[in-house]
Amino acid sequence: MTIAAEQKKFIDARIAERGLGDRVEIRLQDYREVPERDHFDAVGSIEMGEHVGERNYPTYAEVLRRSVRPGGRVLVQQMSRTGKWPGGGPFIESFIAPDMYMRPVGETVAHLERGGLEVRDVHALREHYVLTVAGWLERFEANLGRLTDLVGEEVVRVWRLYLVGGAMAFRDGRMGVDQILMVRPGRPHDLPPVRGW
Ligand SMILES: C[S@@+](CC[C@H](N)C(=O)[O-])C[C@H]1O[C@@H](n2cnc3c(N)ncnc32)[C@H](O)[C@@H]1O
Repeated sequence: MTIAAEQKKFIDARIAERGLGDRVEIRLQDYREVPERDHFDAVGSIEMGEHVGERNYPTYAEVLRRSVRPGGRVLVQQMSRTGKWPGGGPFIESFIAPDMYMRPVGETVAHLERGGLEVRDVHALREHYVLTVAGWLERFEANLGRLTDLVGEEVVRVWRLYLVGGAMAFRDGRMGVDQILMVRPGRPHDLPPVRGW
């Protein structure tokens, strides 16, 4: 699920390339419009919760819960941040994502628990994300000419600053990223009693 048509187009092409069309469906849909009748075995929401905001987070948690069958799994990957800039600070809020809202991981976990999900595991990926962002930056620099033709020099400079600043924020512990694994209570789940992943 995404609200970005370009992203859907890109991922649909990848799905077709890999012959997964009968197993994966990408919907152009706002999370608040997911029908109540959809009960999946598992749901993953990757780097989207940051765009939900504080006020709407209980609705997001409720949509996650009701979208899986009882006993089904929910995985949320989301950035965290402590301190006085939940939006990431004036640069990110002005130039990158005006809707960004980050909080300490414990507060996100509390939101999800209040939403009726049972938390099974929280996996901190902060250091791993430094490598991820470094990979993005490498590809960014390797494609500078194409990027500049596409969006212009000013936007390229903004995104270079975002990627470099982001890598530093993860490296220095000013931001984190976590995978929170949960189940919907009501029926037995099939996760092992201790971590097997
Ligand atoms: C930072 S991108 C992450 C994209 C992708 N999951 C990934 O990891 O590369 C944030 C995603 O959240 C989606 N998003 C933001 N607000 C949304 C909403 N209200 N409903 C559904 N998707 C939303 C955007 O369309 C975008 O795909």
